[in-house]
Amino acid sequence: MSDATAIADRSEVPAGGSHRFTAEDAFGNETEVILVPCEEDPGVRAWVNNCTHEDQRFDTGRGAAIRDGEIICPRHGSMFDACSGECDNGEASGTALPGVEIAVEDDTVLLTDEHYDYLHDGGVNDGDDGPGSTSHVSF
Ligand code: FES
Repeated sequence: MSDATAIADRSEVPAGGSHRFTAEDAFGNETEVILVPCEEDPGVRAWVNNCTHEDQRFDTGRGAAIRDGEIICPRHGSMFDACSGECDNGEASGTALPGVEIAVEDDTVLLTDEHYDYLHDGGVNDGDDGPGSTSHVSF
């Protein structure tokens, strides 16, 4: 767990919404990720903040719409299981969201995915500094 980065407190993941942060993938691309509630252990899941159908964010800054354990796409209404990321309805039917590995320790959500480095809270454009200004890059 030495590479794990604390990204949020469990209490920052709302029951009916999401907590958004920005990470950098292995190619240097900034990627938005949402933490959402899931009834299965450890109670939180992390998904790339984009619908599989078209280029549409679930969380545009006010939290994703989540109802009955499903993330609802704001564009065409497909619903994704918050725990599995799978969608069996609407335009995105038959797809699944790309997941990001996390862990929860002592009510702290940790980013444990070796393909991503945590950059900052919020969306891609919420960071104060430009790309390359931090030392998170690793190969
Ligand atoms: S963009 Fe999400 S269902 Fe179409």
